[in-house]
Amino acid sequence: MIDIHSHILPGLDDGAINMEETLGMVRQLHEAGFKTLIATPHVLEGREFLSPAEILAATEQVRERVAEAGISVEILPGAENYIFPDMAKWALEGKLMTLGNSGKYLLVELPMLEIPHYTDQVFFELQVNGMIPVLAHSERQKVLADEPERLLDWAKKGILFQLNLRSLSGKYGPQARRIAELMLHSNLIHFIGSDAHRLSHSESTYQEALQIVKEIVGEGRFREVTLTNSQSIVEGKPMQGVRDYYLIEPVLKKRKSKFWGLFRG
Ligand SMILES: [Fe+2]
Repeated sequence: MIDIHSHILPGLDDGAINMEETLGMVRQLHEAGFKTLIATPHVLEGREFLSPAEILAATEQVRERVAEAGISVEILPGAENYIFPDMAKWALEGKLMTLGNSGKYLLVELPMLEIPHYTDQVFFELQVNGMIPVLAHSERQKVLADEPERLLDWAKKGILFQLNLRSLSGKYGPQARRIAELMLHSNLIHFIGSDAHRLSHSESTYQEALQIVKEIVGEGRFREVTLTNSQSIVEGKPMQGVRDYYLIEPVLKKRKSKFWGLFRG
């Protein structure tokens, strides 16, 4: 399996603090079944900006230490890029790190509580220039949770979605869990990611979440979202196959009433 979203590079963001923690996280993700990890530190336009060169250098250091430690995991560079108006321009100029440094797939983070007015414009500019936006953990975004039809609209336009595995265990609350399940039922998840910032307290966290994914989407699509789709990222190629997107409303309604029932009851 390939994890396309992790904060394993030490000292670059709010993820791993030092190399020791990095190695612990890498070992844990390896034990959960991941053979490839894309390191995606937070990248924000401004003073704290992290350049592709810095990310590449840190990735190389981690690769060396992981090899020395005898953990058979491939570490690839990437970034979780917080959206800003000139994002597409920067990406095309090579100033933003793409997933796997393939130059094609860009992991994009939206603010949690709003969708900036320039979001569609950024997606469009990326796409007309041959790049593919991958939205990080959409199930955690408040506006998208309230209006999941926007996810459907974006999917039909070619935007891809990455799910945080721990959303399924309720780490980010009942709403994120509900939307995570809705997206899995609705064929709206293309990739999974750990979004690991620390060592997980429970060794089985990722395995349990992966099991839920498998139960919802079935063996065939499980392989797609954990491996084959992500291989396209690593190879910098378009994804294979035609996808049919929909929203399975009964799941949404059922979960919604159950959710609100908690407050009424
Ligand atoms: Fe993240």
